[in-house]
Amino acid sequence: MTYNRCGRSGVLLPAISLGFWHNFGRLTPESQSRDIVRAAFDAGITHFDLANNYGPDPGAAELRLGKILKDDLASHRDELFIATKAAYDMWPGPYGSWASRKHLIASLDQSLARLQLNYVDLFYCHRYDPVTPLEETLQALVDIVRAGKALYIGISRWPLEAAQYAYAYLRQHDTPCLIYQGRLNLFDQAPIQDQTLQAAADAGAGFIAFSPLAQGLLTDRYLNGIPADSRIAHDPRFLNADALTPQRLTTIRRLNDFAAQRGQTLAAMALAWILHHPQVTSVIVGASSPEQLLRNLECMNNPQFSDEELQAIDQIISNE
Ligand SMILES: NC(=O)c1ccc[n+]([C@@H]2O[C@H](COP(=O)([O-])OP(=O)(O)OC[C@H]3O[C@@H](n4cnc5c(N)ncnc54)[C@H](OP(=O)(O)O)[C@@H]3O)[C@@H](O)[C@H]2O)c1
Repeated sequence: MTYNRCGRSGVLLPAISLGFWHNFGRLTPESQSRDIVRAAFDAGITHFDLANNYGPDPGAAELRLGKILKDDLASHRDELFIATKAAYDMWPGPYGSWASRKHLIASLDQSLARLQLNYVDLFYCHRYDPVTPLEETLQALVDIVRAGKALYIGISRWPLEAAQYAYAYLRQHDTPCLIYQGRLNLFDQAPIQDQTLQAAADAGAGFIAFSPLAQGLLTDRYLNGIPADSRIAHDPRFLNADALTPQRLTTIRRLNDFAAQRGQTLAAMALAWILHHPQVTSVIVGASSPEQLLRNLECMNNPQFSDEELQAIDQIISNE
């Protein structure tokens, strides 16, 4: 495993991190989740990314990881960097969502109970709340660190201006923002285009990319139809067959051929492409099997891109 420094902090994160959004809830047998976690840990994937609401049902992924940690990894706690988040809908009523002090602190307490942990390494505000005063949200994050419930703070999906305000506030309060989490992949380059990526680097924060494989589209998964065990077939909550337009399939096929010329799978090339940006600390991959996860590590074998290769990839994508 390659470990990258997270911004200007003391923390090193693995180039590949493991996400718990899918494959850790009611729809997946516990043994399958356990095999993925064990394979990840054995491969040096020390960073696990969760949220209060990952499931289904909300909370299920934290409960499952809590059990796996207790059963299998209790003596390895200090080798792991565990993140969770709050701010999306979690429980009914006025305090179950968004980014008030009330929601963030109560939600983290619930997460710690489900994870059976005394603290998480990283706690995120999962989305920007346009109504709650920013100072209320940010001071709650600072106080969470001071209370020892999280070692570091991150923000996810915040618009640029609010993120820059957060970087300044958190630094002034001696709790610098460790990391920004945003969607970045070959099909969604918004953080590059809108300066979110560079702003994080300028502030000394790392950047971690979620859905780096566009939920499986940037792999060989859908080249020949929709497999019965794929996300589109068995858990289409956030990705369904409408995403597989003929045009998109053509682009995926062209990218797949181009990756083959580089001696890589499409998934490995898609991850390497994200990681070749110097501001990127890590990519959070999802995996439905240990084999898938381990195949993704191949991205580290051919991490460089020539200018001609980058132009060729841009050309394929811009033809969509
Ligand atoms: N901050 C946020 O708001 C936010 C939002 C979304 C996600 N996230 C984080 O990012 C993590 C990753 O998101 P994601 O699950 O969408 O990531 P992804 O890596 O883009 O997609 C994962 C899916 O791709 C397929 N896949 C992975 N490796 C493959 C391979 N080698 N060959 C073929 N198919 C492969 C699998 O699909 P199949 O299931 O079909 O096998 C897998 O479930 C989440 O778990 C979560 O931690 C954060």
